[in-house]
Amino acid sequence: MDKNSIVVITGANSGIGKATSIELARTGAVIIMLCRSKKRGEEALQDVRNLSGNNSVELMICDLGSLKSIRDFCLEFKKKYQRLNVLINNAGVILPGYHQTADGYELHFGVNHLGHFLLTNELLDILIASAPARVINVTSGIHKTGKIYFEDVNLKKNYTFWRAYAQSKLANILFTYELSKRLKGTGVTANCFHPGAVATRLGINRDTGFGTFITRLLKPFFQTSKQGAETAIYLATSNDIEGVNGKYFYRKRSVPSSKRSYDKATAKKLWDLSKKMVESEIE
Ligand SMILES: NC(=O)c1ccc[n+]([C@@H]2O[C@H](COP(=O)([O-])OP(=O)(O)OC[C@H]3O[C@@H](n4cnc5c(N)ncnc54)[C@H](OP(=O)(O)O)[C@@H]3O)[C@@H](O)[C@H]2O)c1
Repeated sequence: MDKNSIVVITGANSGIGKATSIELARTGAVIIMLCRSKKRGEEALQDVRNLSGNNSVELMICDLGSLKSIRDFCLEFKKKYQRLNVLINNAGVILPGYHQTADGYELHFGVNHLGHFLLTNELLDILIASAPARVINVTSGIHKTGKIYFEDVNLKKNYTFWRAYAQSKLANILFTYELSKRLKGTGVTANCFHPGAVATRLGINRDTGFGTFITRLLKPFFQTSKQGAETAIYLATSNDIEGVNGKYFYRKRSVPSSKRSYDKATAKKLWDLSKKMVESEIE
């Protein structure tokens, strides 16, 4: 990666996304911090610029819980930039209680998976035109407890927020594997990683400031955001990763993901369902 590289990072105002933005900005690359809140985004932008000394860091706004917001961002991005070298799909949410996206989908599935599914597909043409390029998806070890509930993907009948989060994080891996297959021969790769347990604002309600009991209790034992970002930076910058496609990483090493995550029929079925849900023309 050099100062001509262009990187988009979702959820860049907090936790792992912000730490990744700071470290990648230090390489001199152009960093687009993609955030849903202008206020939180502007505050983080100042920090990232100050800490990295890189003024080619920019803020753009996109709510991954709104398909229109994603499409609007992609149009705006393509008007402004002719290349995209690295896309880091990092944003994520854990929120107790049943919530829906602007389009009526269950929040965890909608934001963590579907939003990134649409964002990536809408940016695929510019990624391919910029090859070699990399897509990096942030998943979680929690995917091992996850299952895709095809008969009720919005979990209307049997909802718990952990079930919903685990489903969305398994979806991140299935999406990575299916995408990597479709990208073969394009010079664009897709990999994913589990950052480990990291003390961030994940699980903290942005309106009330309250967090889940488990996250508050365990936080003192977690890694810092900077440590949590190390694998993202490795996947974005290392020459070792050139040509590596369709792998799951933990602590900068390719490791196996759950048995369920390798099911090719499930990955294809999820892709088809996601495509239908975003009602777009993507192939
Ligand atoms: N922390 C851990 O222990 C851990 C473990 C495994 C995996 N992960 C994964 O790591 C990733 C980063 O999480 P984090 O721990 O750094 O949490 P975080 O500090 O809460 O950051 C999450 C980011 O996602 C953004 N976001 C949430 N909903 C969004 C939406 N609708 N549209 C756009 N952006 C949205 C947040 O924006 P706002 O600030 O505006 O809400 C924030 O910037 C997530 O994918 C998470 O699943 C984390």
